[in-house]
Amino acid sequence: MTSGSFAGMAASSPATGSVTAIPRAAVRSQGSTAQLPKDHPLLTGLTADSALLNQYRGGRNSAGEITRPHRRPVWFMRQAGRSLPEYRALREGTTMLDSCLDPALASEITLQPVRRHDVDAAIFFSDIVIPLRLAGIDVEIQPGVGPVLGHPVRTRADVEALPTLDDAAFAPITEAVRRTVAELGSTPLIGFAGAPFTLAAYMVEGKPSRDHLGPRTMMHADPDTWNALAAWAAEVSGRFMRAQLMAGASAAQLFDSWAGSLGREDYARHVLRHSAEAFTHVKDLGGTTPEGHRVTAPLIHFGTGTGEILDLLRAAGADVVGVDYRLNLAEATRRVGAETPLQGNIDPALLPADWPVLEKHVRSIIAAGSGAAGHVLNLGHGVPPETDPEVLTRVVSLIHEIGYED
Ligand code: CP3
Repeated sequence: MTSGSFAGMAASSPATGSVTAIPRAAVRSQGSTAQLPKDHPLLTGLTADSALLNQYRGGRNSAGEITRPHRRPVWFMRQAGRSLPEYRALREGTTMLDSCLDPALASEITLQPVRRHDVDAAIFFSDIVIPLRLAGIDVEIQPGVGPVLGHPVRTRADVEALPTLDDAAFAPITEAVRRTVAELGSTPLIGFAGAPFTLAAYMVEGKPSRDHLGPRTMMHADPDTWNALAAWAAEVSGRFMRAQLMAGASAAQLFDSWAGSLGREDYARHVLRHSAEAFTHVKDLGGTTPEGHRVTAPLIHFGTGTGEILDLLRAAGADVVGVDYRLNLAEATRRVGAETPLQGNIDPALLPADWPVLEKHVRSIIAAGSGAAGHVLNLGHGVPPETDPEVLTRVVSLIHEIGYED
């Protein structure tokens, strides 16, 4: 999609409708069949049969055969960050967003937890507000607070004044991803972006908020402005994910961290199609392996407090659903179907508990996830900054040790 099409996109958005107005097949068929570059790690044989991709594919190898991976995959949201002393040392004197835009720094920070914990994936070190910064919007991440905008986006005029984002602006991201995958070898890199609701929530409020009243008021009181804003957010987030995948990421996760503040009806009417639109930028992005098998980069959709809309997260166009710590994975499978691979959901609150308590919890998560076609272990939300990194390393080795013993 070219830049400068935001107004057109918003104007041509379909009228609001119920969930049934957006059948999954329709959402899926819009997908691009675009080709990843030939030297992409997914296509050279490096990552296509990694444990992570096997589980994201529902326990299948790149040939489509049901197989068990060589180990049980695990990674952690916010594995790169303040829980690591080596991260705190590297970040000294550089603001959060400036570090994201320094390719050498972003790449090194992405690699730190992979080296330390032996996790099965790297998550690209960046932030959901990076596309805003790249578009020239005045946004900062204030330490201990989160994203803060100089000028919140609250009126139709504010939305119409939003800048366009040039593809060229993604250069520091592309460069950081290239450097990272060159070091990662057969460990896949996961790219990500913020979903339109979560991103728009920061844009409307101008800062983090608990209840997200601003965007929730806007979608009812001024749906045209809401739809134009969410369409803008969907486009920048979709292109941000696409830039990471094209440069070497093997999977991508859409974070709708705050979608849990929405009722099911509001999600279905005002949000789902915008998240589906973000996914269309990366849907079916893939190519052919050296053995001649067609593979695509799996797409994961995650939010917190989303137990009531889990099926809709899947319907938006995701291959895999991320589950937060509130919902038992067996219940999640009941809600989304056994064919849907799951990701999650170790409770971050248990990381400081005595080891036997934590070990029992991890084992119970593995048991609860066993009914899904695939299961990638993760936390039910990000690593808390005060976490002892040695505990995370121990959790990873426990999961690898358990493997697929029956
Ligand atoms: O390993 C990783 O997951 C690192 C990559 C990553 C970051 N942010 C780095 C980061 C990812 C995937 C994100 C996504 C992100 N950013 C989300 C979605 C995930 C979620 O946690 O729900 C959201 C909502 C944001 C917005 C944001 N950025 C918040 C709320 C904060 C926390 C502010 C604070 O200081 O408490 C950030 C800052 C941020 N993003 C940090 C990191 C490592 C901390 C900044 C620091 O080290 O000073």
